[in-house]
Amino acid sequence: MKVLIPEETIKNRVAEIGKLIALEFNNQPITVVGVLTGCLIFISDLVRQLNLPVRICFVRASSYRGETTIPGDLNIDASMLPDIQGRNILLVDDILDSGNTLQKLSIYLKEKGCKNLRTAVLLRKIGRQQHAIEPDYCGFEIPDKFVVGYGLDYNDEFRNLPYIGELN
Ligand code: IMP
Ligand code: MG
Repeated sequence: MKVLIPEETIKNRVAEIGKLIALEFNNQPITVVGVLTGCLIFISDLVRQLNLPVRICFVRASSYRGETTIPGDLNIDASMLPDIQGRNILLVDDILDSGNTLQKLSIYLKEKGCKNLRTAVLLRKIGRQQHAIEPDYCGFEIPDKFVVGYGLDYNDEFRNLPYIGELN
């Protein structure tokens, strides 16, 4: 496995992002909404950098990639989501690829009446985006390669790698 982003580099960047988020929310309570399962490691490191009153919850999202469904459709399972009406939300995902997941989930959370929505992704792939969504916080921009580790998987494997690796 080729290491694209070493463990120490991720750690430092996550700490930086945590400080920026804490600064922006300035002691207001926030609800951190993680997108399962890829957010797993990022969200757990990030929330420990947030010097704020924090609630943590999760949603599941999967893109329909089959031929019979409209490309870009997203299946959202929000059964684990508490009432977010009037809440400050930080939506956390592992990677922004086409942007479909982040865009559709942002619309969904706004429809549920959140007060304020910010988005954070660890990675953003250059040259892949198909939706006009800009993440508020982004760890690293990476080339168009399939990556694993630090929560990201290939067939549910490799999520436990402490670094971001390029799958060959
Ligand atoms: P989207 O295309 O921005 O909606 O991204 C959809 C999802 O695809 C992300 O949340 C990831 O779970 C997954 N994904 C995209 N690129 C990669 C990758 O390089 N490695 C692992 N998962 C990826
Ligand atoms: Mg994902």
